[in-house]
Amino acid sequence: MKKELINSKNQKGQLNIERREFLKKAGGFAIMGLFGTSFFTSCSDDTEDPINVDSNSEGINVNGDIITIDLSIIEELNSSGGWLLITEAQTLVVNDGSIKALTSVCTHSNCDRNWSLSNGNFRCSCHGSIFSTDGEVITGPATRPLTQFDVSIDGDILTITK
Ligand code: FES
Repeated sequence: MKKELINSKNQKGQLNIERREFLKKAGGFAIMGLFGTSFFTSCSDDTEDPINVDSNSEGINVNGDIITIDLSIIEELNSSGGWLLITEAQTLVVNDGSIKALTSVCTHSNCDRNWSLSNGNFRCSCHGSIFSTDGEVITGPATRPLTQFDVSIDGDILTITK
């Protein structure tokens, strides 16, 4: 199942060899990404669906309410438009010009992993709520924003505190 998802991305030509290597390294987490597509592209259908990986993680550490990400390994977050869903930690991480972290638990009905990013906004496919990358509700049925977490960067290490 997981392998099929990765393969389906390959068939669409959306992942290059480096990306596949990254996915191999990033196991233990379901990671979604928007790579190489501008965050500020408008009027286009630039939706990315989840990619599940099944190997050991590298570059991401979850320790209780603290998540650390090594940006020298998880390079996608270094440029605007890169994003991840860290399923185990129920956390979305996005670079929309600056790096932000949000809960992945949708405020409508608590779905936590059916996210995509389209035209610079997160969409929960459980019932279609759309949120800005700041977590604000753009389209319901959700009525409450996603909680933002504190982020700090020290060198290559991004620390998220929930
Ligand atoms: S749980 Fe996200 S829209 Fe319903």
